[in-house]
Amino acid sequence: MNDKLIIFDTTLRDGEQSPGASMTKEEKLRIARQLEKLGVDVIEAGFAAASPGDADAIHSIAKVIEHSTVCSLARASERDVRAAGEAIKPAKRGRIHTFIATSPIHMEKKLRMAPDEVVERAVAAVKLALEYTDDVEFSAEDAVRSEMDFLVRIFDEVIKAGATTLNVPDTVGYSIPVLWGDVFKQLISRVPNSGKVIWSTHCHNDLGMASANSLAAVMNGARQLECTINGLGERAGNASLEEVVMAVKTRRDIFTCDTRIDTTQIVPTSKLVSSITGYPVQPNKAIVGANAFAHESGIHQDGVLKHRETYEIMRAEDVGWGANKMVMGKHSGRAAFRSRLQELGIVLEGDEALNTAFARFKDLADKKHDIFDEDLQALVSDEEAMQVSEHYRLVAMGAHSETGVLPVARVVVSVGGKEEQADAQGGGPVDATFKAIEQIVHSGTELQLYSVNNITSGTDAQGEVTVRLSKGGRVVNGQGADTDIVVASAKAYLNALNKLDTGLERAHPQI
Ligand code: KIV
Ligand code: ZN
Repeated sequence: MNDKLIIFDTTLRDGEQSPGASMTKEEKLRIARQLEKLGVDVIEAGFAAASPGDADAIHSIAKVIEHSTVCSLARASERDVRAAGEAIKPAKRGRIHTFIATSPIHMEKKLRMAPDEVVERAVAAVKLALEYTDDVEFSAEDAVRSEMDFLVRIFDEVIKAGATTLNVPDTVGYSIPVLWGDVFKQLISRVPNSGKVIWSTHCHNDLGMASANSLAAVMNGARQLECTINGLGERAGNASLEEVVMAVKTRRDIFTCDTRIDTTQIVPTSKLVSSITGYPVQPNKAIVGANAFAHESGIHQDGVLKHRETYEIMRAEDVGWGANKMVMGKHSGRAAFRSRLQELGIVLEGDEALNTAFARFKDLADKKHDIFDEDLQALVSDEEAMQVSEHYRLVAMGAHSETGVLPVARVVVSVGGKEEQADAQGGGPVDATFKAIEQIVHSGTELQLYSVNNITSGTDAQGEVTVRLSKGGRVVNGQGADTDIVVASAKAYLNALNKLDTGLERAHPQI
């Protein structure tokens, strides 16, 4: 029997530390539900002490998640550990993840603490965390640049204090596989009672080696792997869940462990995270990129047609590609709609929410012949986006573009219930639309990102637009979906403005 490899997903914490990727509570809840469906063992839902909003999101996630452990990050301080402990209280299985830096540069320059004090803080934090849960993880931040003797000492002390998982982070993405594997080999052989805890790896991707380093750690005894969907995370990101999970599954001849991940949920999860955070997935990204299973050269196509395994080491359908199931159309009824949403794990609170979503589904079915699961997901995201606040609402719009003529747009926006209209010209119909909206709202925001993704294939597909706006250091992502991408753009812009208006954006979570 193979060992179990614990998959610890930190999309909602380290992933959220990507610039502009901060999420609202509702968005975090949707991702958490999808992560549970994907089968991750631990969901790091946030950093409770960072803000009341973060604590509230963790608390809400802890209430609804049944099968995954829900975890909060905490610095090794009383305030942080207590905030984390309170936030995870409703969880069926809750974990506190406390950390302190252990490298000379971090201890001297950032913490301004002597090594003895660092050890004392770590031990005290672990002991306090145990008052809230018996599942306590300790991380030695910047372990990659820490002295091995000091790591052995601090890990020994936190095991004695009661920590159950010991995480070894390559905080700055500095290691290479052979060295990272050796760090685990040394720690596991030198730390007393190392067999009584789970060893965990947490790698950043600054040199493009996060996944490779994580896998080297697994080959040398790590049994928890910390990762994020699409490799999202601080700076160049973290190890990608999809890459490490598929490596372990595909190379069972090498890895002596298995994960609990339902790999057919990988692509849907990747799409959800990409649409909520506004971080597009590059086409050639392993596993989840649009081209990951596309064969362009004639020789490859010929080979695959004759025998798939000539050029494919994994099956696209095993990671959730091609699951583009045609689920419904114009004639589908409310019961079928509700039941499909349930199968997709989408919960709509109350009859009114169902009725509105159903009406929007019918509108969409008038414009688009085949409705796929992805369309339903987008429809509900759009619905949630609209519920952010009704302060700004798109009532009507039109845009015109013609070769040789400056594009124009007219928008009618309801501002706090009062309709206002504006016309504007722009470099293109989207630009003209945004300018017309600005004539009404005068938001003074800066457009940081504009991206369009087609939700399914075909020219009648819905376009899903993400707009990132910033103002005075606050950053929000707005989303909108429609078969007309100019309309989707207007919805996304107004959704972002509504988030700014209601203060739904969150500060950078790592304080
Ligand atoms: O990269 C890092 O060191 C972290 C720790 C908080 C685990 O994210
Ligand atoms: Zn990290």
